[in-house]
Amino acid sequence: MTAVTDPVTLMKQEVGKAAAALVKSGSIVGLGTGSTTAYAIQFIGERLQSGELKDIKGIPTSFQAEVLAKQYKIPLTTLDAVDHIDIAIDGADEVDPQKNLIKGGGAAHTREKIVDYLANEFIVVVDSGKLVDRLGSVFPVPVEVIPIAVTPVMRAIEKLGGKPQLRMGVKKAGPVITDQGNMVVDAKFDSIDDPASLEKTLNNIPGVVENGIFVNCVDLVLVGEVKDGQPAVRKLD
Ligand code: A5P
Repeated sequence: MTAVTDPVTLMKQEVGKAAAALVKSGSIVGLGTGSTTAYAIQFIGERLQSGELKDIKGIPTSFQAEVLAKQYKIPLTTLDAVDHIDIAIDGADEVDPQKNLIKGGGAAHTREKIVDYLANEFIVVVDSGKLVDRLGSVFPVPVEVIPIAVTPVMRAIEKLGGKPQLRMGVKKAGPVITDQGNMVVDAKFDSIDDPASLEKTLNNIPGVVENGIFVNCVDLVLVGEVKDGQPAVRKLD
């Protein structure tokens, strides 16, 4: 196997490993979506297989997480079968200094929000490129929309000052369809001064299922960095 040398991949691996190390035996674990969390899922699986970790149940936030959990032999459960989640590990597209997030780059933010908000401890894993001074600096806000409402929702977003774009598939003709069978409108705002208020306003548009602004829900952000050519992990406080 060729060694990974790409710095971003190295940061993602290290931060995924650091998050997986925080999972304790007997826990119900929310399994996030995306390329960084994929490493956390892999390392949780490796700890289980080595016997270091026992009696874990995962709750996936997407088909991607479910497939990875099965690949790494992590037993799964559902929200119907448990009364709590101990810890959730998930990635993000942007993190501001107050630990508010934009998520949904993988169109999984609706299930992610359900699972991550239920967790007693929500750990976010990112590489340092995701840190921003203000949400919306780089990334649009993903908005999951029921298909028949796409046009009126896009008009409503324009009235709020956003630039909406229907997310299109890659290697699939037509729009992205979420795990719930809906579509995603990416809404670019020049400046998000009040993330909590925008989160509520977007969710009040009829036809919107959920948007990717996550406010006041994160317990710990683990940031992967490269220092002196070596990958390192620091905690965001
Ligand atoms: C999935 O919809 C997203 O919320 C991801 O968690 C987010 O896009 C981070 O993904 P990466 O770790 O692949 O950047």
